[in-house]
Amino acid sequence: METDSGDRYRRLAPLYDGLTAPFLWSVRSDIRRIVQECGYRTVLDVCCGTGRMAMMLHGSGFSVSAVDLSPSMLARARKNSPPGIRYFLEDAARLHFQTASFDCAIISFALHEMNPSKRMHVLAETSRVTRKGGAIIVADYIRPRGMLANGFRAVVNIVERIAGKDHHANYVTFVREGGLEPLAAGLGMKLTVRRRAFMDNAAVMVIEANGTPRTLI
Ligand SMILES: C[S@@+](CC[C@H](N)C(=O)[O-])C[C@H]1O[C@@H](n2cnc3c(N)ncnc32)[C@H](O)[C@@H]1O
Repeated sequence: METDSGDRYRRLAPLYDGLTAPFLWSVRSDIRRIVQECGYRTVLDVCCGTGRMAMMLHGSGFSVSAVDLSPSMLARARKNSPPGIRYFLEDAARLHFQTASFDCAIISFALHEMNPSKRMHVLAETSRVTRKGGAIIVADYIRPRGMLANGFRAVVNIVERIAGKDHHANYVTFVREGGLEPLAAGLGMKLTVRRRAFMDNAAVMVIEANGTPRTLI
């Protein structure tokens, strides 16, 4: 568990919803649509932040658990949520859930801010707790292609800089290396892009869970 001084979102937490809601609403609605279409029941929101995705899914009748490493983000999630969502303060690279506990897991705009090793572990651990036949839904940045996308990347770049030096450095590496697609391929995961967002700077992607427990040392 991180100490308060190690909480990288302590300052951002009170502003997070106001800053991101206009951009993330449609992405979250897309994710909910995918979960509904697939007929899943139990969902884990990995790196849930202030819990907005978890609340949306809970409001649509899903059984939702959610984890985050930031006490201040999680405090806001707990404060604003109706009863029934199970929140846990823990590292997504070491989840306490049993293997194949959930139909579906979501990781929204969190992998890009982690260092490459952490990203692999979080993805592998998320795969472990998702049952065979389920899915991992990831929303995150992709490598922009085309003039418009590259123009909008300047805006994304400013936002990521505000989030801090390490966060920004990890974002730059993530996008330079091609985002989630090579990462998933390296773990032998099959990925489909379902929708592009932020003028082709981000996407909602679905990874088929194959039920193989993945342990990385
Ligand atoms: C940009 S926010 C995204 C929050 C939310 N998923 C959303 O889409 O609004 C990234 C979140 O990932 C969390 N996070 C980063 N590394 C984590 C880790 N190793 N384990 C759990 N949460 C983590 C941060 O605390 C933060 O709340």
